[in-house]
Amino acid sequence: MTASLSRPVVLGLETSCDETSAAVLDGDNRILGHVILSQDVHEVYGGVVPELAARAHLQQVDRVVDEALSRADVALEDIDVFGVTAGPGLIGALLVGVCWTKATAWALDRPWVAVQHMEGHLFGPALEEVEAEPPFIALLVSGGHTLLLHATQWGAYRLLGQTRDDAAGEAFDKVAKLLGLPYPGGPAIQRISKEGDATRHRLPRPMLRRNQSVEDAAYYAFSFSGLKTAVVELIRTLGDDIEDEIPHVAASFQEAAVDVLVSKTLRAVRETGCGRILLGGGVSANTLLRQEMARRLEELDAETGPRAVHRASLRLSLDNGAMIARAARFRFDQGERAALDQSASASMPFPGLRGGFRAGDSSRT
Ligand code: KG4
Ligand code: ZN
Repeated sequence: MTASLSRPVVLGLETSCDETSAAVLDGDNRILGHVILSQDVHEVYGGVVPELAARAHLQQVDRVVDEALSRADVALEDIDVFGVTAGPGLIGALLVGVCWTKATAWALDRPWVAVQHMEGHLFGPALEEVEAEPPFIALLVSGGHTLLLHATQWGAYRLLGQTRDDAAGEAFDKVAKLLGLPYPGGPAIQRISKEGDATRHRLPRPMLRRNQSVEDAAYYAFSFSGLKTAVVELIRTLGDDIEDEIPHVAASFQEAAVDVLVSKTLRAVRETGCGRILLGGGVSANTLLRQEMARRLEELDAETGPRAVHRASLRLSLDNGAMIARAARFRFDQGERAALDQSASASMPFPGLRGGFRAGDSSRT
């Protein structure tokens, strides 16, 4: 046992989609070792193939954990608490992480904690920025979820809005596919948009009308499938000219998606008076989203408390084990311990979320 470590030492494991990732945090929530292995097996299929993802996790999980422990310079026996993503996500992929964690925790006689993936994203920025603490308005945007929350304290979240169909990241991925760009679509659209003119094609802003009031059910709601359909129509109209127009269509789509995300988040700032925003999930890596959120928050004409946009570095915005370890530490401090018969759940509800949200039947996180 390493004596000088601050405790508890937490190992976080993430296997909900196509990243196998493990991280070791010390008792002060410092990252001692962190490994993120992105599975490239899905690229040729243009999306994540669940069965292949589960198999790849199974092949890699031991190596990834060993490397994280070695970078942290700790032994497996030094781990005090095991945390793992238990849902939502691809069930076969989740089971690899959960079974690995249960077996290891049982063998070492240590507690383990079942982490909800989206709550994990909420803790990403806190790993790098001490001020990234509630109260804040959180926009969580990933491949499977689009959630707008008011976090009054860790573990107490009010759901303001969510998507009624596709998630924001899903829309980036689908539009990229339509334009013949590689998977994952978000980074590809961002890259090619730099060469495009976002004003060339005007795309709709679904669920966003200027005259909506807070009583309106769609006030905070998102919808991205209509935007995707508008892109399908635009591509059809462009016909043979599409090749030259790809950067412009991508840029117009990115601008429309970002406009909706920023506008709805700023509505929440206005209504709650909470000027601090936290961005989480893979789409929060988007540069335009980050820039526009900061710019329009600064320009917002409303009474609010101190204003700031908190977000993680690129590495901690995408799926990673460190955010899972950090969320596990919070849940552990709350006295949570998972039972040995607890399993993974593809639709695990968001803990502490008021407002009726369940992850539903989404297969992705
Ligand atoms: O959180 P995440 O890594 O995995 C899930 O929990 O789903 O999010 C992945 C999503 C993908 O849909 C990907 O296209 C999107 O995040 N994404 C981006 C960017 N980087 C990743 N979307 C827009 N712009 C980006 N730069
Ligand atoms: Zn995620």
